Parts: sequence; structure tokens; C-alpha cells
Amino acid sequence: MKTAQPIPLICPVCRAPLSLLDRMYGCANGHPFNIAKEGYVNLLLSHQRKSKHPGDDPDMVMARRRFFDSGAFAPLSDRLSKSSAINHKGVSILDCGCGEGHLLGALSEQYEGFFCGADISKKAVQIAAKRHKKATWIVANGMRELPIADSSMDVILSMLAPRNPTEFDRILKPDGALIIGVPGPNHLIELRKQLQFTSGNFKEKADTAAGQCAPLFVETDREVLSYAYTLCKEQIADLIQMTPIFWRSSPESKSAAMHLEQLTITISFTLLTLHKAGGNR
Ligand SMILES: C[S@@+](CC[C@H](N)C(=O)[O-])C[C@H]1O[C@@H](n2cnc3c(N)ncnc32)[C@H](O)[C@@H]1O
Ligand SMILES: [Zn+2]
Repeated sequence: MKTAQPIPLICPVCRAPLSLLDRMYGCANGHPFNIAKEGYVNLLLSHQRKSKHPGDDPDMVMARRRFFDSGAFAPLSDRLSKSSAINHKGVSILDCGCGEGHLLGALSEQYEGFFCGADISKKAVQIAAKRHKKATWIVANGMRELPIADSSMDVILSMLAPRNPTEFDRILKPDGALIIGVPGPNHLIELRKQLQFTSGNFKEKADTAAGQCAPLFVETDREVLSYAYTLCKEQIADLIQMTPIFWRSSPESKSAAMHLEQLTITISFTLLTLHKAGGNR
């Protein structure tokens, strides 16, 4: 006899609660979703994607995995793990656009609770699930209806990923926190210059994110995390690979950057914390 465990996931077909049954998830209306051998579940219905392989492609995902593993983004991971919204027992967190899962995976190993990573890229979710066994990993489209129950999450993370404020509002608990990460002032400016890009208006990125989430959310905190980091040759190649904007640079400037033995760059993120407007914080 199979025992069903309640979890805050809902069926992408009929929106009924999903239960975990042995090696699959199922709803009361008989819609089954198998757990892949890596441990993730694909809840993306074919009409919810525009292409056969949406999101970051496998080369980008693997470059991002190596870049995280090299320690270049470790201060970001450390900062998130110290966030007061996250740092409590039994916390439930959705990381929407989780990529290869480094940030959520680290939190799931540090804290007790429910950790769900969602990404539209199957490759990203596959390698996240293979490495981090304490979290639930799903393939889903964060820009459509997410297969997550109403008012079920204490925290939603949206790190350098597309945002869906209406769904975030539905899924967050009334006192929940939305943490958004966008590129901060002078992010990668030295590499941008090498690749002949202008620096862009970074304040605008944070303001745009906050504006996009209003009026459902109000910004309650804004913090810039910025540090200098010296990249080696392999890290330069991975950073270019994982950042689509850099692909548009000329072959000559890309080749020149790839031949550098090292480059000291600014890594900078703006972290916004938002709460529900009218929530009972
Ligand atoms: C720049 S990466 C950031 C990944 C991760 N949050 C991190 O900080 O390492 C953006 C991620 O968003 C994912 N993504 C893009 N569109 C998406 C969508 N509609 N729903 C869910 N994920 C999406 C991509 O596949 C990619 O993994
Ligand atoms: Zn169903």
C-alpha cells in the first residue's frame, strides 16, 4: 500500500494537490508525474513551452555550474544564507528560475524546511537534482501558472531570472518575503569593456524590478553586494558562455578576452526584499 505525503505542489493539469507516491507524484484526479532517475519531476505541460528545449541550454548550464563551483559567486550564496527571512527552522522556499541549483541547494543543506527549485531548462533541473537531494526540483515555466499551492511559501527567490509577480503573490504566505537579485552597480564592468559593451544603467535594473512587482509588492529592503574578483582563463570563458549578452560581441574582442591569463572584475548584485502590499508582516 502506497502512502501519500502532502507537499505544497499542485497538479499542472487540474490544480488539485499533488502527493508523493513512491517514485511518482499524483493528484486525486489520476494525473501521474514520474520522478526521473536524477530525482526531479517534469511538471511542464507541452503547451506551456514555446520551444522543445526552453531556458538555458546545456552548455550555458554547465558553464554556470563550473563558475559557481569555482567560488566566484560564493559571497552571494553566503549573503543569502544569512538573510533573516530564510534563517529559520521549517522555512519553505521556492527558487523560481533556479538554474543549476547552487543557491537553493546550499540553503537546503544548511536549513530544515521545504526547498523547491523550479526552472524551465530540463538540463539545469537535472543537474540540480543530481547534486542536491534535500530539495524538490521541478521543470516548470515560471512565467505561466506555477504548480505550487496558494499561500504556501515563506520565501520566493528570483535570482537573475524572469519574474512573475502575480504568481509570486498567489504562492507567498501573507507575511512571506520575495527576494530578487539583479545585476548591481558596475557588475562585470571590466569584462564588458573588454568585450566593448557599455556599462548599462544598473540602478534602473533594480528600480525596474521593484516597479514590476508594484502594486502587489512593496520594497522593504535594498542592499548592494559588491566585490573584486580575479578570474582565471577558464572562468573568463565560462562567464562569457553563461552570459548571452556577451555572445553579441565581435569575434575579435571575444577571442582577445578568452586569451587573457587573468582579469580582475567587479561582481555586483543588488538584492531587493519585497513584501506583499497589505500582507500581515
Ligand atoms: C541567469 S540564469 C540564473 C539561474 C540561477 N537563479 C542563478 O542565480 O544561478 C536564468 C535562469 O532562468 C531560467 N528561465 C528562463 N525563463 C524561465 C521561465 N519562463 N521559467 C523558469 N525558468 C526560466 C533559465 O533556464 C536559467 O536557468
Ligand atoms: Zn490533476
